[in-house]
Amino acid sequence: MKIALLIITLLLPFNSLDEEARRWGQIGHRTTGHIATQLLTDNAAEEVHRVLNGNSLAEVSTWMDEVRSDRSFRYMSPWHYCTIPEGKTYEEAGTPEEGDIIWAIDKMVTELKSGELSAEQEAINLKVLVHLVGDLHQPLHVGNGTDRGGNDVRVQWFGGNSNLHRVWDSEMIDGKQLSFTELADFIDDQLNEETINEWQSTTVLDWAYESQELLDQVYEYPENGRLGYEYSFLNFDTVEKRLLQAGVRLAGLINEIYAN
Ligand code: ADE
Ligand code: ZN
Ligand code: ZN
Repeated sequence: MKIALLIITLLLPFNSLDEEARRWGQIGHRTTGHIATQLLTDNAAEEVHRVLNGNSLAEVSTWMDEVRSDRSFRYMSPWHYCTIPEGKTYEEAGTPEEGDIIWAIDKMVTELKSGELSAEQEAINLKVLVHLVGDLHQPLHVGNGTDRGGNDVRVQWFGGNSNLHRVWDSEMIDGKQLSFTELADFIDDQLNEETINEWQSTTVLDWAYESQELLDQVYEYPENGRLGYEYSFLNFDTVEKRLLQAGVRLAGLINEIYAN
């Protein structure tokens, strides 16, 4: 009996860690931060260095997941995602009272542009911004309201228990066994000036709809729920494109915030 209790106690935190803490995994977030860093203007790069006390965008990109266990930051939990039911627009769905990812990105940008934040708050806003632009490009962070963005969709990943959300946050990316700098270098060779301008001329809401439009592809997996090489082969180009778009757009926002 005592042993059973001990085992349950030991396993509980791991379960909630699996479900909640990993989000767009660490490598995905850092990759996006690293790509953005390479596209900053000189002035923006200087300001980022100042605001983050010398830390990089890649380093701070996972801060929002790291503070999830801290009660004083619990109000940020609903900011990692949004819900747009199938066939509805975001306006029709409405912004929840506690905020969501689209609302939070707008809030961070507006406050950063105001230039009126304390040094501490400016750093927090920037860390939140880096993280959320990444999250919004993970298709399942725009949920359809039926399965908590795929967290409730149990699947097997190479024979181990997982869920669809986690496959997109981290399993496919971690499976490549690359560091974030290696992954960023592999990805950004597709980039040219025209693509950068095109991607940076879109709105936060556009990014959400792009994610929503990818969901048909995301949910197309074998009926037995066994995911592995084939699912990764069919979807990794999309993962790479979303990481790249997130990095390019994050740089666009930060360059705009620190334009003068
Ligand atoms: N909880 C509810 N919907 C979610 C989503 N789309 N992503 C992450 N967590 C969620
Ligand atoms: Zn996630
Ligand atoms: Zn997140």
